[in-house]
Amino acid sequence: METAPVRVGLLGCGNVGGALAQLLLDDADRIRSRTGLRFELRAVAVRSQTRERRVSLPAGLLTTDGHAVASSADIDVLVETIGGIEPARSLILAALKAGKPVVTANKELLANCGAELFEAAATAGVDLLFEASVAGGIPIIRPLRESLAGEHVRRVMGIVNGTTNFILTRMSEGGENYHDALAEAQSLGYAERDPTADVEGFDAAAKAAILANVAFGVRVVAGDVYREGISELTPSDIAMADRMGYVLKLLAIVAQDDGDGDDTPPGVAVRVHPAMVPATHPLASVRDSYNAVFVEGDSVGQLMLLGRGAGGPPTASAVLGDLIDAAHNLRNRSAGRTVALRESAIRPIDDLLSAYYLRLLVADRPGVLHAVSGVFGRHDVSIRSMEQETDEEAGGDEARLVFVTHPARERNVQACLHELRTLDVVDRIGGLIRVIGP
Ligand SMILES: NC(=O)c1ccc[n+]([C@@H]2O[C@H](COP(=O)([O-])OP(=O)(O)OC[C@H]3O[C@@H](n4cnc5c(N)ncnc54)[C@H](OP(=O)(O)O)[C@@H]3O)[C@@H](O)[C@H]2O)c1
Repeated sequence: METAPVRVGLLGCGNVGGALAQLLLDDADRIRSRTGLRFELRAVAVRSQTRERRVSLPAGLLTTDGHAVASSADIDVLVETIGGIEPARSLILAALKAGKPVVTANKELLANCGAELFEAAATAGVDLLFEASVAGGIPIIRPLRESLAGEHVRRVMGIVNGTTNFILTRMSEGGENYHDALAEAQSLGYAERDPTADVEGFDAAAKAAILANVAFGVRVVAGDVYREGISELTPSDIAMADRMGYVLKLLAIVAQDDGDGDDTPPGVAVRVHPAMVPATHPLASVRDSYNAVFVEGDSVGQLMLLGRGAGGPPTASAVLGDLIDAAHNLRNRSAGRTVALRESAIRPIDDLLSAYYLRLLVADRPGVLHAVSGVFGRHDVSIRSMEQETDEEAGGDEARLVFVTHPARERNVQACLHELRTLDVVDRIGGLIRVIGP
């Protein structure tokens, strides 16, 4: 028996939207035989009707009227691949209000307005699915929401930005400095001309907020995420990390703790920063522009998902999976699980307990080490290892001291840095990098 088509309205036809349209047009028979669903692309909203597109769409589909598509009675499901906050937010809200399920790839929107959108979807009793918003083609949202729904997830650590992972890989394997590695990423199309969102960690911070929403069900927005980028990392940090058995990665980390009785309620830590990852850790082997998400839970232990975190076709694959899910639910007159967010304390970075790597340039003369290690001791920061080498570039008058600490509180380490800056034998404090435990 011929089943009614699932009519799709698509907002945006760029990298992701174009690749999705291509899949819907080229793979219709395969999708139908696998899922029993027949998708029909009914309308595609774009900014410019005259722009040349990689996908050749049937005549009459393109429009510049996104509102008409979002609220059309002629579509069953809306897919949003415009990006940014507005008009994406209003268009999604209009579709949800009209009782239409929505699939979106929009991390920026979810990381800033997620709670409002999840509530609107729950009120309307329809799906709002967003697998592609974190780590592109890697399935991580659905595993966290469904497969791991009963798991006590403690921590999720992700390499969720391919641009920075490519740059760090080139710096560590090719010996390049940051600027050369960035230029190479730009020439290969991995980095934008203005790379700020990637290299300063804003993109990863948006994804960290979404991961915290999904892994812990807590209300976290992008602005809550502690954030440091990779632009200050030097080849000597990378070389030193390598010598000490670590690989430098930009990590998005979300962690949940049970608090400490009445004084400290349960809370979440949400942060993005460069981290020294032990070379034996699965995340250390994630190279080039690949992404990976590493989940730690009480019962499941450790698991990692690895793959292409960006690019039109991988991201469109995740969008298509959501579209199929939404269409099945529509058929069954049900909606999948909604995301209900509760308030939770967000731990300040000062509370972090971590090991640290610290590089200092000091005067190369007797007594300096004693003065420096005294400062560590006064702030309760215990040194696990120390290396010293004369800095030949400085004419041999300076020495480079590299410390790795035992786990210490961030506030103590920052107080230690503050006092070190006041010592006249300390010329410069280089990188302070958090070290991930094995
Ligand atoms: N690219 C990736 O690898 C990737 C990975 C994961 C998630 N995402 C997310 O996917 C979304 C889309 O990314 P993308 O790379 O596909 O972006 P893109 O290539 O810039 O495409 C954006 C599309 O939206 C259209 N558009 C912009 N403003 C519009 C408006 N006001 N009304 C209607 N259409 C409008 C553009 O129209 P014109 O074509 O006429 O300019 C274009 O087709 C973003 O949320 C992004 O964060 C992307």
